[in-house]
Amino acid sequence: MRNLKISAILMLLLIAETVQSQNTGEGGIVSADNAKIEALIKNMTVDEKAGQLTLFMSGWDVTGPTLSTNYQKLIKEGKVGGLFNAYTVDYVREFQRMAVEESRLKIPMIFGYDVIHGHRTIFPIPLGQSCSWNLAAIEQSERIAAQEATAEGLNWTFSPMVDVARDPRWGRVAEGSGEDTWLGSKIAAARVRGFQGTDLKSNNTMMACAKHFAAYGAAQGGRDYHTVDVSELSLYEWYLPPYKACLDAGAGSIMTSFNEIAGVPSTANKWLMTDLLRNDWGFNGFVVTDYTSINEMVNHGNAENNKDAARLAINAGVDMDMMGSTYLDYLPELIKEKKVSMDAVDNAVRWVLKAKMKLGLFDDPYRYCNKSRQENEVMTPDQLAFARKLVAESCVLLKNPGQILPIPETVKTIAIIGPLGDSKKDMLGNWSAAGKWEQCVTLLEGVKSRAGSRVELLYEKGCNTNDGDKRGFEAALKLAQKADFIILALGENGWMSGEAASRSTIDLPGVQNDLAEAMAKTGKPVAVVLFNGRPLTISRLSSLNVAILETWFGGTQAGNGIADLLFGDKNPSGKLTMTFPRNEGQIPIFYNAKNTGRPYNPADSGAKYVSRYLDCSNDPLYPFGYGLSYTTFTYANLETRVDGDKINVTVQVSNTGNRDGEEVVQLYIRDKVGSVTRPVKELKGFQKVNIKKGETKSIAFSLTTADLAFYHPDLKKYWEPGEFTAFAGTNSAETISATFKVN
Ligand code: BGC
Repeated sequence: MRNLKISAILMLLLIAETVQSQNTGEGGIVSADNAKIEALIKNMTVDEKAGQLTLFMSGWDVTGPTLSTNYQKLIKEGKVGGLFNAYTVDYVREFQRMAVEESRLKIPMIFGYDVIHGHRTIFPIPLGQSCSWNLAAIEQSERIAAQEATAEGLNWTFSPMVDVARDPRWGRVAEGSGEDTWLGSKIAAARVRGFQGTDLKSNNTMMACAKHFAAYGAAQGGRDYHTVDVSELSLYEWYLPPYKACLDAGAGSIMTSFNEIAGVPSTANKWLMTDLLRNDWGFNGFVVTDYTSINEMVNHGNAENNKDAARLAINAGVDMDMMGSTYLDYLPELIKEKKVSMDAVDNAVRWVLKAKMKLGLFDDPYRYCNKSRQENEVMTPDQLAFARKLVAESCVLLKNPGQILPIPETVKTIAIIGPLGDSKKDMLGNWSAAGKWEQCVTLLEGVKSRAGSRVELLYEKGCNTNDGDKRGFEAALKLAQKADFIILALGENGWMSGEAASRSTIDLPGVQNDLAEAMAKTGKPVAVVLFNGRPLTISRLSSLNVAILETWFGGTQAGNGIADLLFGDKNPSGKLTMTFPRNEGQIPIFYNAKNTGRPYNPADSGAKYVSRYLDCSNDPLYPFGYGLSYTTFTYANLETRVDGDKINVTVQVSNTGNRDGEEVVQLYIRDKVGSVTRPVKELKGFQKVNIKKGETKSIAFSLTTADLAFYHPDLKKYWEPGEFTAFAGTNSAETISATFKVN
């Protein structure tokens, strides 16, 4: 009986295969594939359908509460659609074998993982990478991540994370691209292109998953998993575009967010998952929940129990349940009770099977299980060299009084002091995928290998990152006295940012400010190297006469890439993509704020009834787009020319210092009068250019009127004629400007 059934299915599949192939424009799915999928759906039991919609974790790398599930038995019963946190060829192959050799319908599983900033070769955290403003390099980092991950059995990444965030207390800002929607959208698309390449069926590309849909970055108070309550207009204008950019770049999947939108958790939000995503945007990939986010709706208070939550999610248009087991446990009953239609379930199954088809898993379920690739295409010298380059590009020089950096050739003894000076574990940041902390190059190691025997290198920890113990100060000070240059490695531990790592105060933790003050008092040149996963309120540190290099968490090659900058082999070019506040009271603080009806004018500092703080200036400590170089750039001759629907902007940028350098030339606009008020500045373009010392380059931007468009109360996006200001500059606060009119 069983054999008869199998041959019937195979017949159907064969018939389907002979159907004329014809591209339907669905990411490589042809009509024969669709016929195959329909044939399968027809033959699936309800349990098997629920199984396809179920994603379990293999038990490695726990990223949330675990459920005790005998997933291996379930795989053999055809009740698991995909696994995550399972990688390496033999391990994956065995699970895939269970699915395609032991389950009734032999449907291959999809294998997912949080490949967030590299797989084995770990790159700087995404927030750091975004500070490179180098879209090609960011794309390349994901290309390498995909090469490595697919060499170890994976074909799906839970990345990119594209949540726009304006609150650095939220630990997950580390995973994103900062506060700007426009830049964030460009980076989002670059990441998707990097992961997916031009052919998802190729064995070294993987499916991207845009997350967390939607507006997870607006969690109240910066507290992770907290409520989101933003206006519809803000949602469209600021939060949604990066997800849309991912889909436009072809992202094959999208992940629901933990938060609610307008009172309805994303995972049950039919407006979001169906009306907007499918109907308005025409998304043709599949929707996966975040980790147990169906079950969490019971806590949110919009579902009575897990079964009720499953009903809400599937009816909203959510295709796959990550870790919650709610579809597996309740869809069969819900269908029987007519609370969920078979059509709704079939639709979801269709999207999941299509994704597997797009990845070529039906042609060869083991296509990502290639031992020789695993041995030869992971952590190659080229990949590591690229990682080192990206570290240097991601760092941002915040302060450099008296050109403390680069370290002068004359320096003979360097003291590296501070809790992060030789801390391998912290270099990976919060998401490390399959990266091994043991393989990370620390600051001490990087400096040692660059300085060689010419320089004597001393090291003392001085204090811990996060406690009140000052007993190490004395030894650190003693060591400092012996040196003619001090590198002070301060910041957060890797675990202090990322998921479930919100902080209410975001200054340097512990006694690190005290250590910095003690070092500054020695009168020796001090360069602070910061490691952290979010903007910090480093007003105290910043008031000292020290250089400050923000390095985030650089990953595998952290120490080498930082050493390249410290010794001046490379010139810093990174620019902040997220504002550094002076203190937590300024949060949320972001460059593209509104002017208000009572704007504060610093020239009139005594004014009372204006929008300001009594105890702190409105300006941030370091603004969006900010970052110094070892050379200096000046801006002149900003000109605008309107020609029909084109707006041409040119500006001359000169390198006025004494070394060659790269500058991120930034273009902002302000729409002076809008029927919906407009921000004081909006980024509309940038160019990262190499300018030789003494050289002047003319930088041209061409905008169109479409670039001036914004959302209106009817949620339509269009531009309004009138007067605009164009600003060009080295950061969002220091700009020159010119006006133009568009009619
Ligand atoms: C995170 C996601 C992640 C998932 C799987 C969740 O807790 O929010 O970003 O992809 O876990 O690890």
